[in-house]
Amino acid sequence: MQPVADTKLYAAHIEELQRRYDSALENARLDAVVIGAGQPAPVYLDDQHLPFKPNPHLVQWAPLLKHPDSILRYRQGGMPDLLVFEPEDFWLRNSPVPEFIKDGPLNVQLVGNGHSLLEHVKEMPARTAFVGEIREQEDSFGLKRVNPQKLLDELHFGRAIKTPWEVECLRHANYQAIRGHLAAEVCFNEGGCEYDIQLAFRTACRITDEEMPYPAIVAANEHAATLHYQHLDRKSVDNLSLLIDAGCAVHGYASDVTRTYSYDPVFGSMIEAMHELQRELCTSAVPGADFRELHIAAHHSIATLLREVGVTDISPEEAVETTVSRTFFPHGLGHFLGLQVHDVGALLASAKGDEMPVPDNDPYLRLTRILEPGNIVTVEPGLYFIDMLLEKLRATPEGKCVNWDQVNELRQFGGIRIEDNLHITESGNENLTREAFAAAVMN
Ligand code: GLY
Ligand code: MN
Ligand code: MN
Repeated sequence: MQPVADTKLYAAHIEELQRRYDSALENARLDAVVIGAGQPAPVYLDDQHLPFKPNPHLVQWAPLLKHPDSILRYRQGGMPDLLVFEPEDFWLRNSPVPEFIKDGPLNVQLVGNGHSLLEHVKEMPARTAFVGEIREQEDSFGLKRVNPQKLLDELHFGRAIKTPWEVECLRHANYQAIRGHLAAEVCFNEGGCEYDIQLAFRTACRITDEEMPYPAIVAANEHAATLHYQHLDRKSVDNLSLLIDAGCAVHGYASDVTRTYSYDPVFGSMIEAMHELQRELCTSAVPGADFRELHIAAHHSIATLLREVGVTDISPEEAVETTVSRTFFPHGLGHFLGLQVHDVGALLASAKGDEMPVPDNDPYLRLTRILEPGNIVTVEPGLYFIDMLLEKLRATPEGKCVNWDQVNELRQFGGIRIEDNLHITESGNENLTREAFAAAVMN
């Protein structure tokens, strides 16, 4: 289901893209750009292809998610042309082009096998760049300027500020994902195994596996300690806890939502405490906030919780200072979200491509920018019992500050992550995920 088709918002979005491309082309000394959708990668020694993942730069102009080989041409100051490739083929049939794209501000033209796309590129000015993946030399239509870094840096920097159309897509991607999360929770409560729970999520969202914006993480019990756990158990066991990280995409814009559930009263109260500290962190995700500082604030909150539940006996300051808290929270607090789940531009200090460095102690932090209105970010603190990291900590002097009996009690639950998607506004933020949960409960 693709609910957002607001033609006014879409038209305003295209106008904003024209402004952004005009500036980026000017600064990169270019006259025009040809953006290729790309092709699905072939499977080695086979006549099949891997699922098609279109070039996000093309999807930003036109959400054509299943039209390989299509292109978009844009001349500085001109109107964008979308050339939709429609194979004349009795083996394949493309999905229809949505009406709001056909009737929208782009010049849309269908191009079949008989009409070479090359002909449409030949008319372009000399200083035309190609933006897209190049697998074969001819993929760039003979254009010499391929993915110029200067152009990409400005475009990627700009993608951090979502247009109102993009925010609506992300809002609906949350509504859709929350239907799946509620169904997944019911399935877990009814004793479903990981495979059943993933299927319950997809069925409620009405999406195929390939339409998921990222492979869902459905991890029961100790499996939640593997951060990107992918194996789906197909047998029902007595699951005591569940971590589910799953999203949907609307017109290519992804939601990225995690919830954790448990029947165990002690672990259940830790989940509640994580919700509370996550909500508290969300209140600080406002314009002007430095995401690196928010990440450190998350470590302090998690270190406080670890001491409160008796896992450690040192002060939160010491736990953060000595990096003990990194054993339990080894990933970043969040990232930009958009056409890519870990969206581009999150480490850029300016449109010129200079980077804001990732702190030495936090190599997995994916967002170092100062927050601005129009950003969409995830806020996803976690607390895990990861054997590999625990063993390392145990072998150091800091290992003495850990109550290992308590850790052994909690290992069976794997871990907790609570992840919401926030739209940073002029006055603070909108929590798209919690709003979607609240709306679903009212219906
Ligand atoms: N689902 C991947 C992440 O949370 O970043
Ligand atoms: Mn995430
Ligand atoms: Mn996630």
